[in-house]
Amino acid sequence: MSIMYKVWFVAVVFATVLSAVYSYATPSEQCPGESFEDLRDRIQVTPCGQKRCKLPKNSNITVVFKFTPKKVVKSITNEVFANIAGVPLPFIGVDGTDACGDVKRADTQEAVACPLPADQDYVYTNVFPVQPFYPAVNLRVHWNLKDGKKSLICFEVPAVITAGKKN
Ligand SMILES: *[C@@H]1O[C@H](CO)[C@@H](O)[C@H](O)[C@H]1NC(C)=O
Repeated sequence: MSIMYKVWFVAVVFATVLSAVYSYATPSEQCPGESFEDLRDRIQVTPCGQKRCKLPKNSNITVVFKFTPKKVVKSITNEVFANIAGVPLPFIGVDGTDACGDVKRADTQEAVACPLPADQDYVYTNVFPVQPFYPAVNLRVHWNLKDGKKSLICFEVPAVITAGKKN
């Protein structure tokens, strides 16, 4: 093989591997008025999809957030709603609940309790079921972890509820 061919071959392999890795990224977008650095590296919704998260009925969705507060965190509250055709519907059972109990230190995976020291990496994990009675519609999920009025991390993602498996 000529050198040029080898270089080209390596480049193609590299690009293929990269695109395979990136296709797992959640297509999260900034919440209005926010601009979190590396947002797409911080948010993971499973299962999802490349352009919108596909949420099958009768399945569990896992949401993982990584965040690094610049100030001490007194408390964390979930603000979760689904925007359906422009109408925000709170996600009952999650919206307004305490999120501190679902936070761990990113490095040691140890559970933590609020108040959280600043300048640490934290991971928040939540698993929720897609109920069979949810309407199979397009929606936009908004998920914000808030300390009082301040947002610690926030994302929005286009999603669709799909039929999934029958029970
Ligand atoms: C979802 O999680 C709950 C609680 O862990 C579990 O009981 C249930 O079987 C799970 N459902 C599916 C479809 O995996």
